Amino acid sequence: MARPRVTVVGAGNVGATAAQRIAEAGLADVVLVDIVEGLPQGKALDLAEAAPVVGHDCDVTGTNDYAETAGSDVIVVTSGLARQPGMSRDDLMQKNAGIVRSVVVEAVRHSPDAVLIIVTNPLDAMCHIALDASGFPRERVIGMAGVLDSARFRTFIARELGASVTSTQAFVLGGHGDTMVPLPRYSTVGGVPITELLEPARIESLVQRTRDGGAEIVALLKSGSAFYAPAASVAQMVDAILGDRRVILPCAALLEGEYGIQGLFVGVPVKLGRRGIEEIVEIELTDEERQAFEASAKAVQELVDKLGASPAPA
Ligand code: NAI
Ligand code: 2OP
Repeated sequence: MARPRVTVVGAGNVGATAAQRIAEAGLADVVLVDIVEGLPQGKALDLAEAAPVVGHDCDVTGTNDYAETAGSDVIVVTSGLARQPGMSRDDLMQKNAGIVRSVVVEAVRHSPDAVLIIVTNPLDAMCHIALDASGFPRERVIGMAGVLDSARFRTFIARELGASVTSTQAFVLGGHGDTMVPLPRYSTVGGVPITELLEPARIESLVQRTRDGGAEIVALLKSGSAFYAPAASVAQMVDAILGDRRVILPCAALLEGEYGIQGLFVGVPVKLGRRGIEEIVEIELTDEERQAFEASAKAVQELVDKLGASPAPA
């Protein structure tokens, strides 16, 4: 049986590292695409030359031509610009919207049955662009953010309690931004909610550190943003999809009435399998949690309105 094929658009920090993780885990052959000539070819060749040492047989190739991505099972979109001096957040959003639209149109033309995983920021708004540009059903357009935000929360909880990260679970819902909603009641260590293990003030400080997680890395790196944990998060989603694992992970999904929200991408728990989103899982929220979730959805809606992103198809 032919190995699955994953296209990663954007051979920058997140894209190249995601390609490495996908190939080295033996999940799929990877085609790396970038607008810069030589960059995807060079990184792909370097990754391919690591294969004999690491011991996997997945092929990694690089190209500037989408024809070489044909027949991909999953397309990961990481292409985008970082904010430049003098560029407002809105300018950046419009520029990345143009990039995401053009790469999605090109990529899906050659892989009409693929599942799209969107990574480019601002994440939730870029998912709207990808949905519109692809014409795909909502099951096959998924945003990566919740896995990353939850991984950050899990890291901070595990460190606080001196427990293994593998015994620590957490859920972060809502938009990928300052209004994200970490849910302590659904965050557990050894199956015990952290609300029974930590004082409220400690939990609040871990929640705030999670909300600031992206900015904390940017401040340390001084240039560029996080990419190891984002790439690992992408690889987990790819594994869930290609392996039809039905893993429940927090992802940005187009809501059509779930959680009382219509026509908006927001982070919620979803069951990921071979068709993409197999199910949107609705969990019970307290009034306070629901208010925070709705405030986060409102912030996403404001971005989408600013972008003038086409409304989701009915
Ligand atoms: P990077 O700057 O290292 O890589 C971006 C790549 O996109 C560059 O190689 C660039 O040449 C390429 N690119 C630009 N325009 C293109 C086009 N039209 N076609 C093909 N390639 C194009 O950036 P990095 O660190 O890899 O981040 C990528 C994006 O992912 C950013 O928007 C970042 O904010 C976002 N991000 C989102 C996360 C999430 O949780 N959703 C987490 C981490 C990053
Ligand atoms: C992060 O959370 C930049 O969205 C990216 O690290």
